Amino acid sequence: MSSLKDKIDFGRLPQHVAVIMDGNGRWAKEQGKMRIFGHQNGVAAVRAVSEACAELGVKYLTLYAFSTENWNRSKIEVDALMKLLSKTIAEEVKTLNDNNIRLNAIGDLTRLPKYNYDALMKAIEDTKNNDRMTLTLCLSYSGRWEITHAVRSLAEKVLSGELKLEQIDENCFSNFLNTKDMPDPELLIRTSGEERISNFLLWQLAYSEFYFTDKFWPDFNKEDLYEAIVNYQNR
Ligand code: FPP
Repeated sequence: MSSLKDKIDFGRLPQHVAVIMDGNGRWAKEQGKMRIFGHQNGVAAVRAVSEACAELGVKYLTLYAFSTENWNRSKIEVDALMKLLSKTIAEEVKTLNDNNIRLNAIGDLTRLPKYNYDALMKAIEDTKNNDRMTLTLCLSYSGRWEITHAVRSLAEKVLSGELKLEQIDENCFSNFLNTKDMPDPELLIRTSGEERISNFLLWQLAYSEFYFTDKFWPDFNKEDLYEAIVNYQNR
């Protein structure tokens, strides 16, 4: 069977792909199921896309898993998502290590329940020496939160005299962001037909190409990822 993978130019791969995984709730609703059923099935898509990116040679994959705004969802959904996240993270550590993938997380992680935070930190520690690809989960994350947080840290350094006003430029500022060790994403993918940035990597997406698909996240598979990359390479 032919695959869109054959159309990918490996000399022009994006180094960093970012994804807004959207549509889990609508996917579940279509089947008359609870929203969490959609999130549970979204895990398979996370696995498929992580595997596909690592196989291709993408160095950074960043997933919007839980936004600052998501805290406003029903307690039942938030609790279920937190449990699903920590369960999945713990279950996937072996696969991450077998595939030489480093796990990373950005966002206001102090807001996560302790059991979730602990599972995350353990998985990050257990995969820290892997260097094939960095998989970053954005948890309790929003671009405005990140920028505000960066401004505070930067202002502190100015107040303490460690940093001079004249030293602040784009490069200096980006070193205060959670993504300081990563290149900016060349490609942003959003599923489910929505075409908004929704407070995702506001600073980092300044020059990225955006790719939208009507597919809901649980239906997104490896071929869809290849299609997004081929589309990006044809621009
Ligand atoms: C958006 O769909 C999806 C989320 C808010 C959660 C994403 C979580 C997963 C895919 C589960 C596992 C993730 C990892 C990283 C292990 P939505 O709920 O906004 O859907 P809707 O727009 O149709 O309501």
